[in-house]
Amino acid sequence: MSKPLHTKHPPTWLVTGASGGIGQAIAEAVCAQGERVIAVGRRANALNALQTKYPQQVTLCVADIASASGRAAVITAAEGAEHLAGVVHAAGVNQFVRLAEQSDADIAALIEVNVIATLQLVRGLLPALQKPAHSQLLLIGSTFGSLGYAGYASYSASKFALRGFAQALRREMAGCGVNVQYLAPRATRTAMNPPAVNAFNQALNVTMDSPERVAQAALKQLRSGQARQQLGWPEKLFVLLNAVVPGLIDRALRSQLSTIESFASGLARTAQSSTSQPTTSQPNHS
Ligand SMILES: NC(=O)c1ccc[n+]([C@@H]2O[C@H](COP(=O)([O-])OP(=O)(O)OC[C@H]3O[C@@H](n4cnc5c(N)ncnc54)[C@H](OP(=O)(O)O)[C@@H]3O)[C@@H](O)[C@H]2O)c1
Repeated sequence: MSKPLHTKHPPTWLVTGASGGIGQAIAEAVCAQGERVIAVGRRANALNALQTKYPQQVTLCVADIASASGRAAVITAAEGAEHLAGVVHAAGVNQFVRLAEQSDADIAALIEVNVIATLQLVRGLLPALQKPAHSQLLLIGSTFGSLGYAGYASYSASKFALRGFAQALRREMAGCGVNVQYLAPRATRTAMNPPAVNAFNQALNVTMDSPERVAQAALKQLRSGQARQQLGWPEKLFVLLNAVVPGLIDRALRSQLSTIESFASGLARTAQSSTSQPTTSQPNHS
């Protein structure tokens, strides 16, 4: 992350997902240290609240990154930014559901936002990122991008894809002045997790971070330039064990399967009775 604070030309960060949860906390943390934010999201009211808090520092970009016109608006905003220091891509969607109960539309909506639109958006942002001598691109992944978890098959697939993308692009951009970084938060208390998921995490004694805590880790990573970071303990250990002895994690998760199935199926029934639309594409996707 660019060091100078309160200089004549504070750096600008384009933050997607700035209308909620982790992205919003990152945008606030950046503003709190005197830097500027181009805040991207679909919900104008949530973005307006951020701008009201930091009127001199926040520029809004109301855009749906799943649409070509939305991505074009984000790219135009980045190209017009004064002193663009980097992009933090936190926009994403999730659905806790067994694959057998997930609709084609929900699978497509999830992969669309988390993978296809993300890759297309990043490709479009590369010229703006390459304009300064140095810039940063921080992609927000997940523990489930390294450890496939029952009830999150499609989401895990999307975050594994994101992690692979971050690694490959980091290598592709070496020497171009763009530092591609990847941050994997563990479970975090945001609107992404409906109450049933919070109850599920509580039932399994899963620690949930606050979005502010994740934001501080993101800022630290931007400052240090660190390539990749997994948050949380014992999540770091589980990710390592999963890479080396995945059978151990298979066995550990098998013992949780009935709990996972009952919570995931309960959520699927609630979603079915409340809407026929793809649940992952709703603005508050809870
Ligand atoms: N919460 C967790 O437990 C957790 C754990 C690990 C990783 N993560 C990852 O962290 C990131 C942020 O998640 P969060 O927990 O902060 O979720 P969140 O509170 O639901 O926020 C998601 C953000 O993504 C934006 N977004 C979603 N679809 C979009 C679209 N089509 N176009 C533009 N913006 C879109 C939302 O904007 P609008 O609402 O305005 O549409 C919102 O600002 C995600 O990538 C997620 O996968 C979350």
